[in-house]
Amino acid sequence: MVNLILFGPPGSGKGTQSANIIEKYGLLHLSTGDLLRSEIAGKTPLGLEAQKFIDQGLLVPDEVVIGMISTKLDANPEARGFIFDGFPRTTVQAEALDKLLALKKTSISVVLSLEVPEDELVRRLLDRGLTSGRSDDASEDVVKKRIVEYHNKTAPVADHYAKFGKLKKVKGEGTIEHIFELLSKEIEELMGVRV
Ligand code: AP5
Repeated sequence: MVNLILFGPPGSGKGTQSANIIEKYGLLHLSTGDLLRSEIAGKTPLGLEAQKFIDQGLLVPDEVVIGMISTKLDANPEARGFIFDGFPRTTVQAEALDKLLALKKTSISVVLSLEVPEDELVRRLLDRGLTSGRSDDASEDVVKKRIVEYHNKTAPVADHYAKFGKLKKVKGEGTIEHIFELLSKEIEELMGVRV
């Protein structure tokens, strides 16, 4: 089983590259951002609560997203592997994920970290905000707040996996196709060893 974390700040290309990876390698995509947006669209109590945090560029409480991921893992016992996108985003989430996977006798294979300079992230997100309708892309203030949250709370997750030798940095600038080639090389190296 191959389990990937596609890691990186807001706008680094996690969602874009996840779509390419699931198509080519048949992994199951688990994006906490997508799961939360679907709860918001359904106006569920969880969605209404989460929206308050998302609109301010803040992280949703750990227990909410850990619960969502736990449910999805239980619901997909036949998956040949998972790609986690936007999760884990705190060390508490990373430790919870490690435990959930250990219960299923598996673990994270690699964390692929997309490295993109901050001015490029802001440009991409504000461009997308013009057409996506995502409330958290709509203003520069909120976009910058998301990046601050990333540095304060999410960047330490990379250190958590680096300790176990599982962190691989990948240059996230250039064409989407070129970045996908770099990611594919890492994934195939891993599959060559583990599959
Ligand atoms: P989430 O949906 O996870 O958003 P994010 O991490 O902020 O990521 P984005 O979707 O904005 O960026 P991305 O890296 O996926 O890049 P993308 O491929 O879209 O989370 C949203 C919110 O939900 C969070 O702020 C938080 O409140 C909450 N949340 C979610 N998970 C949580 C968790 N685990 N814990 C707590 N709270 C959580 O690309 C961005 C743009 O750039 C696109 O327009 C794309 O077309 C473009 N682009 C991509 N690649 C390139 C390229 N190579 N060149 C030029 N443009 C490119």
